[in-house]
Amino acid sequence: KEDDSASSGSSGDGGKAITLGFSQVGSESGWRSANTDSVKAAAKEAGYTLKFSDAQQKQENQISAIRSYITQGVDVIAFSPVVVTGWDAVLKEAKAKKIPVVLTDRSVETSDESLYVTLVGSDFTDEGRRAAKILEKVIAKAGLKGAVKIAQLEGTTGAAPAIERAKGFKEIMDAEHASDWKVVVSQTGDFTRAGGKQVMAAFLQSNPDINVLFAHNDDMAIGAIQSIEAAGKKPGKDILIVSIDGVKDGFVAMSEGKINAIVECNPLLGPQLMDVVKKVKNGETVERWIKTKEGDFMQDQAAAALPSRKY
Ligand code: AHR
Repeated sequence: KEDDSASSGSSGDGGKAITLGFSQVGSESGWRSANTDSVKAAAKEAGYTLKFSDAQQKQENQISAIRSYITQGVDVIAFSPVVVTGWDAVLKEAKAKKIPVVLTDRSVETSDESLYVTLVGSDFTDEGRRAAKILEKVIAKAGLKGAVKIAQLEGTTGAAPAIERAKGFKEIMDAEHASDWKVVVSQTGDFTRAGGKQVMAAFLQSNPDINVLFAHNDDMAIGAIQSIEAAGKKPGKDILIVSIDGVKDGFVAMSEGKINAIVECNPLLGPQLMDVVKKVKNGETVERWIKTKEGDFMQDQAAAALPSRKY
């Protein structure tokens, strides 16, 4: 799906507007919609010509969008890679045409680090660690005693946030809870509500004694809540839930007592991205990883925080 947004406003860079080709992952979650809105609004505000495409979570669509941006000769290409591997060929084509590439949100694995300039996005491994640390508080608050039997709803298989969140969570679990916590079942829900709902229903069938859910995003947690309720259990009580993102619907579920804690992942990357794009276009040096600042929220903070949530 392509959508070219012409610029309005002034470029503020001496008159020559920047043309930015942006290949988005898809529209799988509330986080993603907020990220798309942020990118579009910030490009408009900066006065850039934005060529935007939605890859519908398919790598081949992202590769053809990037190829089309190379053919069109855009100034800078930015993209949020659906999975980490398989980008070298197309990134080499961009490099051959001297078009700089900026990664946003998600990283790639590449044999040649010079194939992209920088990553603007979150530290997903740390988000996984933070999820494990906040789960300690949730367990203590709920007074859960005995074995902690965790179900994990993973993000899209092969995507940086799925790999790294699982890794960070496991790191804390292995180091500090080897004897009392166990991930008894773990499967992808593809970062979608429908995926979370379907996979959680299967988890409850195969492992009815699960007492914790770690969901890699709020949307999957919200889908899972429907299956937990359909199974006659209380989300947030019979099954403690920690998720990642902090979208409005996640905060609503938290204020209703159905999610116990949320680790924030900020999707509002547009302004930082436009800033970096301009610097890259002007040949300035930028940091290799521009990290996003974010916080953690327990259920008792949800109602007060809800009105000021921006996404
Ligand atoms: O890459 C960020 C992740 O992608 C978000 O946590 C998730 O909601 C989205 O789909």
